Amino acid sequence: MSFKHKHILGIEQMSKEDIETILDTADAFKEINSRDIKKVPTLRGKTIINAFFEASTRTRLSFEIAGKRLSADTVNISGSTSSVVKGETLEDTARNIEAMAPDIIVIRHGHSGAPHYLAERVDCSIVNAGDGAHEHPSQALLDMMTMREHKSRIEGLEVAIIGDITHSRVVRSNIYCLSKMGANVRLCGPGTMLPPGIEQLGNVKVLSDMREAIKNVDVVMMLRLQTERMQGQFIPSAREYHHLYGLTEERLKRAAPDALVMHPGPMNRGVEIDSDVADMLDRSIITGQVEMGVAVRMACLDILTRSARRVEGWA
Ligand code: CP
Repeated sequence: MSFKHKHILGIEQMSKEDIETILDTADAFKEINSRDIKKVPTLRGKTIINAFFEASTRTRLSFEIAGKRLSADTVNISGSTSSVVKGETLEDTARNIEAMAPDIIVIRHGHSGAPHYLAERVDCSIVNAGDGAHEHPSQALLDMMTMREHKSRIEGLEVAIIGDITHSRVVRSNIYCLSKMGANVRLCGPGTMLPPGIEQLGNVKVLSDMREAIKNVDVVMMLRLQTERMQGQFIPSAREYHHLYGLTEERLKRAAPDALVMHPGPMNRGVEIDSDVADMLDRSIITGQVEMGVAVRMACLDILTRSARRVEGWA
């Protein structure tokens, strides 16, 4: 196994082998998360700073838990409690964080490219925990892991991703990841939320009719309307959006009989997904995604520090 990257900035830069290395490593970490004592000494003495300049529940918590389960010292800062509110720039914030000698900075930021900007200016590894509407690589990796767990493969899967495609970093990372792993992606949403040229990112078909988009698919991934990134009116109303693009039990019948329902969270029940579907025990794997997120993030932190830790057999 090898992984030549110093940072995890996006899936776009990764090869299929890179993705498989992370998934296989995460597979090995899964077991630790079901132990009574969920801790191994892998990253003892390493320092990880989680710098979240945008709200997060799943990503921030799971990076923190992942670091702690690997025995790293993990520290969190958020935009609202940092000196950013006093006017400090991102570069100055990062330089000051770096002066405290972290091994990894995990960053979420509202601006696309913020993690890449930092990666050029600091010495430690950077992990992109979501940058604007650009990429969210660890989310796509945990999505791959969840699909692989339930379907025993990714290659050849038909995956429909429905919703606000324009503002979603999850969709971009998933298009790259699914395409590299040999799956086929169908994108669907209102015309105002389907950016022109998106089909060029991978094995993508764009459809505006949701019934057509989910016909016989293996996986239906629903996305939330990211109103916080919208400037202007993208849809007439949440009610009309639900009527055309909401996942209902009736609509799900058009997918394959064993189709899985996924959502990166946070969900807006009754808008993009009905509660009946979100809570469907045999089909919804939404909390399973969160569970896989811890193992995937443990794998990311482990892999990025392997060279420095001189792990035997690591190229
Ligand atoms: N999926 C995801 O990124 O969720 P959070 O915003 O809660 O981290």
